[in-house]
Amino acid sequence: MRYFLTLYILAIVTLVGVAGFRGSVSRKPPIEIFPDMDRQMKLRPQEPNRFFGNRRSSQPFVPGTIARGMPYKDIPVNTGRMTGSTNWIEISPVEITEALMERGHQRYDIHCTPCHGAAGDGKGITSKYGMVAVANFHDARLVSMTDGEIFNTITNGKNLMGPYGANIKIEDRWAIIAYLRALQRSRLSTMDDVPEPQKAAFQN
Ligand code: HEC
Repeated sequence: MRYFLTLYILAIVTLVGVAGFRGSVSRKPPIEIFPDMDRQMKLRPQEPNRFFGNRRSSQPFVPGTIARGMPYKDIPVNTGRMTGSTNWIEISPVEITEALMERGHQRYDIHCTPCHGAAGDGKGITSKYGMVAVANFHDARLVSMTDGEIFNTITNGKNLMGPYGANIKIEDRWAIIAYLRALQRSRLSTMDDVPEPQKAAFQN
């Protein structure tokens, strides 16, 4: 009984202490049992903020930013299709230069070699780990495929291949296609492609 009384009084004192003065005005900050996210580490728009060098919480866009969900301008270089249609463009709209080829080679080695292999025959390192249905770029079907469709495959993926549009810039996608064409050509060349002075070396 003695314990009960003590606890009972203690409970009343606690209850009155915590809840009893609700509504009365005080200049002191209230007791905060659950902070309810009253204070947050957040930036308010259009407010000054010392975190950034320019002391603004709203930062200007990074150059080249495109709003999420905003469609690309419907031009071949962005879509691989003829403007206003769903037809693929036959040939890359980007001028083929040595620099583009080099860039394409480098990007191909980074992004495509793991699966398609350095020679484009679909025997990349992943084939050793059970990924066997990778396309071989030397298939007649892929040799005659339009540049536009390949662009679309890189951008949006196809069947088992995932999309790489988010990882590879548009210019780089066209550079990769230029290099891919060179890979295909390397297995299709004939004697006519060999420069005259070197021909003798191939005669026998
Ligand atoms: C993670 C593995 C992987 C990577 C990386 C990859 N591919 Fe593929 N790719 C595939 C597979 C698998 C297929 C076969 C898809 C199918 O038909 O199911 C394929 C198919 C293709 C095709 C043929 C599509 C068709 O219409 O049949 C093209 C063209 C192609 N890839 C280009 C590329 C290029 C260019 C790159 C580099 C930017 C690349 N791929 C990177 C796995 C990959």
